[in-house]
Amino acid sequence: MASVAVIMADPKQSEERLKHESVAPPEEIDKGSMCDEIVGSSGALQKVLSLVSKVAPTDATVLVTGETGTGKELVARAIHRRSRRSSRAFVCVNCAAVPRDLIASELFGHEKGSFTGALQRRLGRFELAEGGTIFLDEVGELPLETQIALLRVLQEHEFERVGGTRSIQTNVRVIAATNRNLQAAIATGTFRRDLLYRLNVFPIDMPPLRKRGEDIPLLVEHFVDHCARKVGKNIKGITKESLDLLRSHPWPGNIRELQNVIERSVIMCETENLSVDKTWLSWLAQQPPATEPKVPLDLSEKLAGLKIA
Ligand SMILES: Nc1ncnc2c1ncn2[C@@H]1O[C@H](COP(=O)(O)OP(=O)(O)OP(=O)(O)O)[C@@H](O)[C@H]1O
Ligand SMILES: [Mg+2]
Repeated sequence: MASVAVIMADPKQSEERLKHESVAPPEEIDKGSMCDEIVGSSGALQKVLSLVSKVAPTDATVLVTGETGTGKELVARAIHRRSRRSSRAFVCVNCAAVPRDLIASELFGHEKGSFTGALQRRLGRFELAEGGTIFLDEVGELPLETQIALLRVLQEHEFERVGGTRSIQTNVRVIAATNRNLQAAIATGTFRRDLLYRLNVFPIDMPPLRKRGEDIPLLVEHFVDHCARKVGKNIKGITKESLDLLRSHPWPGNIRELQNVIERSVIMCETENLSVDKTWLSWLAQQPPATEPKVPLDLSEKLAGLKIA
C-alpha cells in the first residue's frame, strides 16, 4: 500500500527561507493519511475518479463537497499526486481548526510586530505551498475578511502578509472542501457568493457510502487487510452475518465510520473469520433490511475495484 509524503517543498528554497524567516513547525503540516488508495468499483465512484483524471493535470481550482468521511481529502491528494505539481508541496489547512483571528496569518503569514505575539516574520501556508497545492478543508468556516483575501489570491494570484505592505505573487493550486451547504451560507451572509463562483470552477461531489453499497465488500477487504497486517493477525474472511450487517447499515459517518468499525473488529477478532458486533452499529436497528444482492465472502479474492496508487 503506497503512502505518500505530502510535504515536498523545494529544499533549496526552504533552506534559503529558513535562514531569514520562521516557518510553521513540521508537525503542523499535514503528513497524509496512512493509505492513499481510493477503493471502490461503484458507478458513483467511477464518475468521481473520471473527474479526478480530467482535472488533475490542469491548474483549475477544485471544490470537493460531500458528507463527512466520504473521502474529500483523499480525492484532493489524488488530484495533487496526478498533477504536474506532484513533486512539490501539498499543504493542508483545516479552516475550522484555526482560531478566527489567526487564520489570515496562518494562510498568508505575518510581518514581525504586526500584532501582539508576532515576534518575528512568519511564512504562511500559501508561501509554504509555492509551486504546489494548498488544500483548504472546511472552507465554509473562513471569516468574511479572509474570504476577501482568498478571492484576491484566486483572481490576482497575489496576497500580502498580515502587517505587510508588499504584494507577494503566488503560484499555488487551490483545492477546497466543505461538508456545508455553501448556498445556504450565502443566504445567511456568512459566505461570499463571488468566492463560491471562484472556488466552484470544477466541482466534485462525493457520494455518501449508503448510495454506493456495492463498494462495501471491497472497502471491508481493503481495511481488514490493512488493519490485520498492522496488528499482525491472519484474517481470511468475514462471517456472512457480519457482511450483511455492514451492507445494511446506513453509515452516517461514511467510509471513516466503516474503517473504524473494521479496525475495532480486527483488534477484537480471535479467529480467522472476522465478525462485527452489531451493538457497534448504533443506527442499525432503525433501518429497513438491505435488498442488495449477495456478495462473495472470501477476503482472499482480489480487489476488483479501481485504485489510484
Ligand atoms: N474510497 C476510499 N477508499 C479507501 N479509503 C477511503 C476511501 N474514502 C475514504 N477513505 C478513508 O476514509 C477516511 C476518511 O476520508 P477523508 O478524510 O478523505 O474524508 P473527508 O470527506 O475529508 O471527511 P471530513 O469531512 O470528516 O473531513 C480516511 O481514512 C480515508 O483514507
Ligand atoms: Mg476532511
